[in-house]
Amino acid sequence: AHFVPAASASSVLELDPCSAGTDPARFKVAVLGAAGGIGQPLALLLKSHPLIKELSLYDVVGTEGVGADLSHIDTDAVVTSHVGADSLSAALYGSHLVIIPAGVPRKPGMTRDDLFNINAGIVKTLAEGIAKFCPTAWVNIISNPVNSTVPIAAEVFKRAGTYDPRRLLGVTKLDVVRANAFVAQALGRPAADVSVPVVGGHAGITILPLLSQAQPRANLPAAQLQALTERIQDAGTEVVKAKAGKGSATLSMAYAAAKFAESCLSAMAGRAGVVECAYVESHLTDLAFFASQLRLGPDGVQDFLPLGVLSDLEASNFSKLKTELQSSIQKGIDFVQKGP
Ligand code: NAD
Ligand code: LMR
Repeated sequence: AHFVPAASASSVLELDPCSAGTDPARFKVAVLGAAGGIGQPLALLLKSHPLIKELSLYDVVGTEGVGADLSHIDTDAVVTSHVGADSLSAALYGSHLVIIPAGVPRKPGMTRDDLFNINAGIVKTLAEGIAKFCPTAWVNIISNPVNSTVPIAAEVFKRAGTYDPRRLLGVTKLDVVRANAFVAQALGRPAADVSVPVVGGHAGITILPLLSQAQPRANLPAAQLQALTERIQDAGTEVVKAKAGKGSATLSMAYAAAKFAESCLSAMAGRAGVVECAYVESHLTDLAFFASQLRLGPDGVQDFLPLGVLSDLEASNFSKLKTELQSSIQKGIDFVQKGP
């Protein structure tokens, strides 16, 4: 085992100083889609994480350059680069956590579901690789449409006999990060003091911010709560429009994914009380997959926190999201069970 020197025992993100401490760096983390808009800054943030022993970068193109560049950073995670399908086995073998931002992003005018035709196949192939080469890894899925790609991965794992719903997590952390940022602005409070649960799914009206449960309390007029809800739901589109054809959120997503990975790794390492929102197989509602607040433990999702009492606005938004989320889930399941 190799121990992290005290000088590098905190992350550049300052994600959570008590999460890793002087624990040995022991995890292999694979990023699939590592040369992309999200993959590169995500890999940069992870390179400094004290719990990561090996940062395994995989892409169909361009991985060596990103890997060479990152490997010159004076932190201890060893960077390995893997390019092309033939190297997927080496990229994945022995991984404890696999993060997937592989796939195409939106252009203005597109919905996330418009990405299904390309990204569904990419996620299916990568999930098949995970089932073969690191079947007990935790999997964080970023590729859109998350509402469908997580059910796709679940079906692949079920077929392979490796499915453990506790370890398959759709990353909705960016919705929480955005909600925290916008509510902090509205309240005039430091962002670090604000925490807003966001549940449901990760597309338009399926994103359900629970502003009534914000900490500290967001005592704002109803019209402002409505406007904040809509801004959180449309925040991805806000970035897509501003990037004007050059993709979607990458930097804020990399930040959110790194924080989420940090939570997964520290729970894996035995830290208690790690709570995150994520999109997982769920029995909290009648939807088979649903994002909600989860307590993470060493084996993955340990407990589902209750949804709590919803405000009238939230209850009405919840009833509006059900049909869309249900059909996105079914679309993902059908893709694997019936074929494209
Ligand atoms: P990008 O095009 O910049 O990067 C994607 C990378 O994936 C590229 O480097 C590409 O070569 C790689 N790739 C393509 N096919 C692959 C395969 N079969 N195996 C491995 N790698 C492959 O896109 P981006 O901006 O990084 O976005 C990636 C995905 O993340 C998109 O689907 C986007 O919609 C999604 N996204 C999700 C969230 C979220 O909150 N969950 C936020 C932002 C973006
Ligand atoms: C986001 O929320 O930023 C991502 O899902 C990317 C997108 O297409 O909006």
